[in-house]
Amino acid sequence: MSEIKRLDAESEALIRQREFAQKAKKLLAGRYDHPPLAYVHTFGCQQNVSDGEKIKGMLAEIGYGSADSPETADLVIYNTCAVRENAEDRVFGNVGALKPVKQKRRGMIIGLCGCMVQQQNIAEKIKQSYPYVDLVFGTHALYTLPELLYHRLSGQKRQFSTGDSPGEIVEGLPLRRDGEIKANLPVMYGCNNFCTYCIVPYVRGRERSRHPEDVLAEARQLVQMGYREITLLGQNVNSYGHTLEEQIDFSDLLREINHIDGDFILRFMTSHPKDCTHKLIDTIAACDKVCNHIHLPVQSGSNRVLDLMNRHYTVEEYLELISYARRTIPDVTFSSDIIVGFPGETREDFEQTVELVKKVGYTTLYTFIYSPRTGTKAALMDDPIPEAEKSRWLRELLDVQSAIREEQQGHFVGRTLRVLADGTGRSGEGWLSGRTVSNDIVEFQGPPDAIGRFVEVKIERALNWALFGK
Ligand code: SAH
Ligand code: SF4
Ligand code: F3S
Repeated sequence: MSEIKRLDAESEALIRQREFAQKAKKLLAGRYDHPPLAYVHTFGCQQNVSDGEKIKGMLAEIGYGSADSPETADLVIYNTCAVRENAEDRVFGNVGALKPVKQKRRGMIIGLCGCMVQQQNIAEKIKQSYPYVDLVFGTHALYTLPELLYHRLSGQKRQFSTGDSPGEIVEGLPLRRDGEIKANLPVMYGCNNFCTYCIVPYVRGRERSRHPEDVLAEARQLVQMGYREITLLGQNVNSYGHTLEEQIDFSDLLREINHIDGDFILRFMTSHPKDCTHKLIDTIAACDKVCNHIHLPVQSGSNRVLDLMNRHYTVEEYLELISYARRTIPDVTFSSDIIVGFPGETREDFEQTVELVKKVGYTTLYTFIYSPRTGTKAALMDDPIPEAEKSRWLRELLDVQSAIREEQQGHFVGRTLRVLADGTGRSGEGWLSGRTVSNDIVEFQGPPDAIGRFVEVKIERALNWALFGK
């Protein structure tokens, strides 16, 4: 409950960080023969992207401009993800490639932060094997970047801050948002669900919700700034409010944001099926700005595997939600995450997943081969199926999904859809790109000044990856 610490711009801890930012700025002034430049790259989920925007905000305050590549940067920060082994391999590959770059650039500083380095074994590996990495800070130390950077700039030893913590809520950090049309808005941090395969609860701390006033103030500001799409973020937005004293749940929050005057749409992720209620589905139906698309990760179509995963719902309960949503929200669509090859998963379990995917008919499916994560329960389970077999299963599932998608896309031809134009298209001169409220990609011919607006597009042709129209 109220023992969750909330820091804001007026709190001592953040005032201190702003002082460090000013001191770092002074040190930087004479350090290079050019204005200092930073390159920040974020791996992983939208939550991490949102953290990346805070990092860029803090760096702007310290006086860094932004570099287009590590080769032209004086400070490189990789904001890392630990969710699967290949995510970590990619980071190590990128960090390895920085060694020769740093040798050529006088005074260059390298920082690693985020989920991956919150794991003590990884932090230790970097300490031992990557001596040219200057700053290592975990998810809980994000806001202390000015302090760590100041110490390193002033000639102190390499800075490590990866201590474990249940986590706090930090409001009022400076922000540099990546886009001008779409914005991320975290409503909660951390996760308490401990799905047996997942590292997130270990690296992100306990679940904690932002105060509704803080969320609403940020939402109002985004609308005022002209953002057209706001995505509410949390590892499980459906448990929003559980850590707050006031009686408020995610449906209530959605309603309040939906009330804000303005021309914008609302998305949210991720919805855990175990906490997805009829109230939430009714709310989506009742709120005109909330998209009729739900990302509802099922992970597996086998009750036996769902139980091993500690997901707390059955296939039957999941399908009941889908069917209620279909009855309640006009034209609702769904997307999902699926893990293939969970420890002990059999061919039969996998076939049940394929069945479920066919039954629901997702518009998008994010599929992953199970990756063991040190410290999780699943990493200790027996895992007899060879990787090659799991890869075959994955390809099979992708083929099934691809056929489903092709059929779905065909149904759109001849219809007129509301699309948020968000950039230039891939199809050449005069083409723009956008997303429907159900998050389908549309390419269409239109004037460049349509970008950032909602437009009506008549669909004339459909391919697997996009719809095409005028
Ligand atoms: N909080 C979200 C998911 C966050 S992680 C939820 O509960 O749905 C995003 C996705 O990565 C998960 O949905 C899962 O499908 C996948 N994932 C997580 N850990 C994994 C692992 N160890 N191996 C493979 N995929 C994993
Ligand atoms: Fe991981 Fe499960 Fe939490 Fe999602 S709900 S972040 S999959 S532990
Ligand atoms: Fe996100 Fe990866 Fe961390 S998925 S929460 S950045 S482990």
